[in-house]
Amino acid sequence: MSYTLGLATMDNSAAALFQGNRLVAAIEEERLSRIKNDGSFPHLAIAEVLDIAGIGLSDITTVAVYWKPWQLDVRISGTLRKLVSAPLARGAILARLRDMAGTGSARQDPPPGSWRDLFRLRKILTSRHGPTAARLCFIDHHDSHQLYGEAMRDWDDCLSLSYDGGGERNSTVLAAVRGGQRQVLSQHRWPNSLGHYYATFTGYLGFKMLEGEYKLMGLAPYGQPRWRDAILAEILRLEPEGRYRLNTRICDYHAALQGRFHPRLRELFGPPRAPDAPPTEAHIDLATSLQAAFEAAQAHVLSYGQKLHPDLRRLVISGGSALNVTANGRLLQAGMFDEIIIPPAPHDAGCAIGAALAVLPDAERASIRSPYQGRDHSAAEIAAAIAAYCQTPPQPLPEDRLIETTAQMLTEGKLIAWFQGRAEFGPRALGARSFLADPRRDEIRETLNDKIKKRELFRPFAPSVTEDAAPSFFKLDQPSPYMNIVADVIGTSIPAVTHVDGTARVHTVSRDAHARYHALISRFGELTGVPVLLNTSFNIQEPIVYSPEHALRTFAASGVDALVIGDHVITREDLTCP
Ligand SMILES: [Fe+2]
Repeated sequence: MSYTLGLATMDNSAAALFQGNRLVAAIEEERLSRIKNDGSFPHLAIAEVLDIAGIGLSDITTVAVYWKPWQLDVRISGTLRKLVSAPLARGAILARLRDMAGTGSARQDPPPGSWRDLFRLRKILTSRHGPTAARLCFIDHHDSHQLYGEAMRDWDDCLSLSYDGGGERNSTVLAAVRGGQRQVLSQHRWPNSLGHYYATFTGYLGFKMLEGEYKLMGLAPYGQPRWRDAILAEILRLEPEGRYRLNTRICDYHAALQGRFHPRLRELFGPPRAPDAPPTEAHIDLATSLQAAFEAAQAHVLSYGQKLHPDLRRLVISGGSALNVTANGRLLQAGMFDEIIIPPAPHDAGCAIGAALAVLPDAERASIRSPYQGRDHSAAEIAAAIAAYCQTPPQPLPEDRLIETTAQMLTEGKLIAWFQGRAEFGPRALGARSFLADPRRDEIRETLNDKIKKRELFRPFAPSVTEDAAPSFFKLDQPSPYMNIVADVIGTSIPAVTHVDGTARVHTVSRDAHARYHALISRFGELTGVPVLLNTSFNIQEPIVYSPEHALRTFAASGVDALVIGDHVITREDLTCP
């Protein structure tokens, strides 16, 4: 049997393992290291996927990684040009150049992954995981994004967009797929980057860059787009043939990484927001304007593809910018496409799977489409974790009792921690590692924020809905199995998951995708007439829980009423330690 190991080694690093053509496991490093957005070399994830398969590194036939490091010429020359023209960003640029050249100084433990790791990949792997004679394959970054995204559907023909901060040379790639063959229609050279645009202003609005982008997006519906046109005139110009031009002198990503911004931004929009300050009306309007300009640019890029291929009415979106779920929903609302799919991990972690797909053209798509790719923890492992926190562990319940008990608690307004089956791959909790609540109760958002999230109140919570019932609650004509499309909410029955603009980030759940979660939502629906649950990720100020031990620890530290883990319902009264 051949084994293929796919790796993403920087930013959101991850490992994926294929046995023959079947995806066996895929895990982000952050879930194991417990460091949010961990970008270090994914040693823990590699060890975990190998252990799940019961093999060692010496059994691996091929290692596929998501960069062609020798194609970094555009980024290196661009970075050098920037060094001359943008003194604001000098420190960040020099650090980046040192990193590219492999002369960076020793860093904290664990060190972030870097370009130089790719030039000594075999050495790094053998130093921690034993010898390997595996073939090493280096795959184009955007090919990795697109291959993973395109594996989500059996569409013969579609448009495929990947966009992010930047790949080796490009930050946006638009392709037409016909009969399984991909033809590139347009490429946008780095640093001309919609990802950098959004990240820079994430910093300007006082959020952590490369992490807080979703907060900017969450703030956007509260304001007026009063600067949309000014942004499109001066910062993000739309040009013929679906091209955009980012003014990198004013919108300086590298300077922003150091908390420095071009004075022109202050002239246009007023002062940046300090991280702990409440957002002003101007900050909120700026978020609205930035999002509107982003959506205009995204639609502009895609309109070129539709002009060339007007019959392609389906779209695959991948790359970190695909996490802009509001923009994804607008494309459907505007009628630009009949159907859109975004993979569960459109950011760089998903490239671990995508890179492997480049060397496995006949990979089983069904195995790739499931977002549940973590370890299948046994009943014994779950029982052991419970025993460490409960002197008298509750007995396991049969399936129907477990579902009934959980659904009843939810109708009573209780908060539930839900740990069922293999962990999700990607940033969304999709019913395997979730906090759940009754979406009919508006006040439950504040309860959740008090007991769990301690986050900004302007950020919305998302709904899970049975696939069959989704059209009754949301203006959405297609499934959204990975919670990455925003749609209008119909009616007023689910205020806790309805954003201020009347939208929600929808997660549609089928029985095939997750039978137990589907059964729970269905039973809640029978009891209430609303087959919808508020679903937010099972974590408190750290990555989503992965193991039963993480679940018990996080539950114990939270204020939620019960943990439903495997066949057990644990209440707060059952907890005896720590
Ligand atoms: Fe990327």
